[in-house]
Amino acid sequence: MSAPDPLDAAPRQQWSRLGFVLAASGSAIGLGNIVFFPANAYRFGGGAFYVPYLVALLLVGIPLMIVELALGQQRRRAYPQALAAVSGRRGEWLGWWALANCAVVTLYYVTILAWAIGMAVAALGGLWRPEVATPGFDAATMPNPAGSFYRLVSGPWPLLFVALVWAANAWILRRGTASIERAVKVFVPAMWGLMVVLLLRGLTLPGGLDGALCLFTPDLAGMADPAVWQGAFSQIFFTLSVGFGVLTAYGSYLPRTSDTVNDALTVSLLNCGFEYLAGTAIFAILFAFSAVPQASTVAMMFFVVPHGIAQLPGGPVAVILFGVLFFVLLLMAGLSSSVSMIEGVVSALLDRFELSRRRAVLVVCAAGALAGSLFALPFIVDSGTASNGTLGLTLLDLVDHWAFSYGLLLVGLSQCLLVGWGHGAARLREGINASSSWRLGRWFDLLVRWVAPGIVAAILLSSLGQEVGGGLYGASYAESYAPGWAWLAALPVLVPLVWLALAVGLASRLARTSRPRRARLLLLVAALTGGPSVASELVLEAPGGPVAGREATVRWQSREGPPSVRLVAVHQPRSRVARRETLGSLAPGEGLRWVPSQAGLVTLVAEADGAPVTLPQPLDVSVRWARVPWSGVAVLAIAGAILFGGAAVALRRALRDGDRLPDGAGIQPPGST
Ligand code: PFF
Repeated sequence: MSAPDPLDAAPRQQWSRLGFVLAASGSAIGLGNIVFFPANAYRFGGGAFYVPYLVALLLVGIPLMIVELALGQQRRRAYPQALAAVSGRRGEWLGWWALANCAVVTLYYVTILAWAIGMAVAALGGLWRPEVATPGFDAATMPNPAGSFYRLVSGPWPLLFVALVWAANAWILRRGTASIERAVKVFVPAMWGLMVVLLLRGLTLPGGLDGALCLFTPDLAGMADPAVWQGAFSQIFFTLSVGFGVLTAYGSYLPRTSDTVNDALTVSLLNCGFEYLAGTAIFAILFAFSAVPQASTVAMMFFVVPHGIAQLPGGPVAVILFGVLFFVLLLMAGLSSSVSMIEGVVSALLDRFELSRRRAVLVVCAAGALAGSLFALPFIVDSGTASNGTLGLTLLDLVDHWAFSYGLLLVGLSQCLLVGWGHGAARLREGINASSSWRLGRWFDLLVRWVAPGIVAAILLSSLGQEVGGGLYGASYAESYAPGWAWLAALPVLVPLVWLALAVGLASRLARTSRPRRARLLLLVAALTGGPSVASELVLEAPGGPVAGREATVRWQSREGPPSVRLVAVHQPRSRVARRETLGSLAPGEGLRWVPSQAGLVTLVAEADGAPVTLPQPLDVSVRWARVPWSGVAVLAIAGAILFGGAAVALRRALRDGDRLPDGAGIQPPGST
């Protein structure tokens, strides 16, 4: 027997039952649900993404959530200490490494929230003007809301907002579970309410439901791309908050008798249910206004969705209302997530050092505000925004790539190996079953030892392969840096090195010291610049409007221009599964009949003499379903039933049974392993 651990004797704060459900689901529901999910789903092809996402939830997400919560609940300590209790020094080292990675993610996550404050203020007025002067950038004015965003990020305000968000986090964390519970009791119900309002608004727009069905209708050809699976698994990690050590910290404030399996099911199903609503609402809005999402999640959050909101019917009042609502929703969801990330770090420091909570919170938040300001640096490094525009955005983009695509997955993989193999999945499972009403079978061991680590390792290897084959992430930005900023070309190499050194150094050190309405009738496309004057005369006509059916005519109304252009429809433009469909040649004065091959967002491209004809603005259209896509309706219904039905059952049980033990179950004493 080893000497008793003083941590076992120390009193620990404890959640109320409802408080835990709200805090843990508030941690899971965040920017990842409202923005990253729709952006990733679009990038990976909508219908090609959702089924892999559900598979990822079942095979990896829920099992890892059970493991992380169980670690905290059984050991009643933060992540590094809980891992140390089950697998010694190596475990503690991994725990600190995970928290270092989590700290890095928190830094830029909070900066994004700071921008959301700036955009919420702009949404009261300036954001909706047709165009905004953006000093320092090549174009004197930019279309809104992109112009407003660039004006915001190239100014000093975000630095102040960063401090403000860190201060808000510190305030919420000041008394631990008691003060966190008080905040999430307001944030979480309000978030659900605002999301339902956004969903109803989206679905009642013309074409809204068609857009939602683009998310759920399975696209088997798209699923053949391994990158789609990779995207789905990364999304599940981030959205469920697994691979950060945070769930273990939250689990450590649960009584040992808490029903771990039910807790994990409640939190994951509530989170994915919220994500289902958010995806539906955002796809509906994008489709109704033919707003083509961009690969970048920041763009999605700050330009694309606001661009849709700007076109809402109901006049300026409706636009301002929904604009503010959207950013307030982001802020509440983001804050309830960021407090959990910070609590992950604070709880580990408290379990490691003799510190008062107040002091730990102050030190962590002050350091966070300082370091997080890096991502809000307003210097303009690329006036054309071909890379990221400002220094802060560039750093954020590069750091996010490494921390998100590699850090989380590495932690998840190592955790499976340490717990599944080192400690023993069966042993962990026995401990879990002792306090759970749904008992886990041997299949759980198989998932933790083989399936989850196997899939995560395969994803990591394939990402690394792409990195090696396709060049280091961000290397191509070097071409667009402004004079004086050429040295930034070194960042794609520096960032991963610093990230790795920081995380490894910190871990080892700490371990050692213990569309649009306009589309309803005629969709017209804007004028060409620089090339032959075609676009202003290019008109898309369809019976009942281009979004209303499968048949449309593209007409070139003018009698001037080049002898002919070739028209190409790009389906799912800017996504990984973009498909080109050549419509044929069109001469001035002629029309061309077009029967789109599939529903979804489409960009029409004109080419003359084989070269693309530059359009001043993209010709984006939404193609509605010709017939009801029953497979999409089925996925929508089945996923909805599983997520909400499951969440309702688990939630009821969680709130009804409280922390009562199932009959006859016993709890292993601490330190019995
Ligand atoms: N799950 C959160 C989101 O979807 O935005 C992000 C997050 C919160 C990640 C807490 C990690 C974490 F520990």
